Amino acid sequence: MTDQLRDGRLHHLLTLEGLPRPLLERLLERADALRPDALHGRAARGMLAGRTVVNLFFEPSTRTRTSFELAARRLGADVVNFDAGLSSTRKGETLGDTLRTLEAMGVDAFVVRHAADSALAELAAQAAGRTRLVNAGAGKRDHPTQGLLDMLTLRQCKGTDFSRLRVAIVGDIRHSRVARSDLHALRTLGTGEIRVCAPRALLPEPAELAGCERVERVDDAVAGVDAVMLLRLQRERMEDGLVPSLDAYFRDYGLTPERLALAAPDAVVLHPGPMNRGVEIADAVADGPQSLVLQQVSNGVAVRMAVLEALLG
Ligand code: CP
Repeated sequence: MTDQLRDGRLHHLLTLEGLPRPLLERLLERADALRPDALHGRAARGMLAGRTVVNLFFEPSTRTRTSFELAARRLGADVVNFDAGLSSTRKGETLGDTLRTLEAMGVDAFVVRHAADSALAELAAQAAGRTRLVNAGAGKRDHPTQGLLDMLTLRQCKGTDFSRLRVAIVGDIRHSRVARSDLHALRTLGTGEIRVCAPRALLPEPAELAGCERVERVDDAVAGVDAVMLLRLQRERMEDGLVPSLDAYFRDYGLTPERLALAAPDAVVLHPGPMNRGVEIADAVADGPQSLVLQQVSNGVAVRMAVLEALLG
């Protein structure tokens, strides 16, 4: 996906693939600086005054939609949450016509979640020059702000030198836009070692795993790593039968306290949410001291503020 940079600046945020490292690092640094305003402060309230952001979500979301709304409000923008279920898309209006209709009402930025991998590229080709687009999760391909908030969370715990990091990505990589965005970002930041572990049926094409080490057994994948990045089983995108049973999946791939004990003593655990407890993660890990799940959520507001500011500020 191209066309997200103009004159070296972010025009849309469609993907982390190919995003230059200095730009990615500037977004992370800005998000870190905005954290007090993301959660409690009011200092940023004037930054996007007079701007309008529409959340255009065609798939369910708790974290991404709410944090984009909070991010836009905390920057002072007007926010509209488009209700796809009550909209004229139900009468057959196309995505492009929906975009142009809302553009005509003076909307500056669209935050879009859609089931189609290509949705954001299609919108980018049709958007007016002044419109900004943010990918809030498209198909199996991209979830760039999740990738950014995961990197911010890792940096906060492990420092900025990713070349020292050993990371294991465990779970349904094949259907995961989070995994793809994390992989783009981890590679761009020069991560020392990236291991991937999944049942064969849940692995993507080998080309998508360039630079990663594929490990069969989860015990071997997590051994000695600094961070375990778990992925949700994306049952809504999966043909039946790819996983024999949820119990078998937990037995073979679930992160339990016993498995986590094989990682480095100060290893951290990330999960983008929503979690399938007892499927990819045990309760004791999800709620344990090494879990960064809620820190990821908090960072989501700051990252989305940094992105909206970069696009509209
Ligand atoms: N991680 C994530 O995208 O969560 P939501 O689907 O709740 O937005």
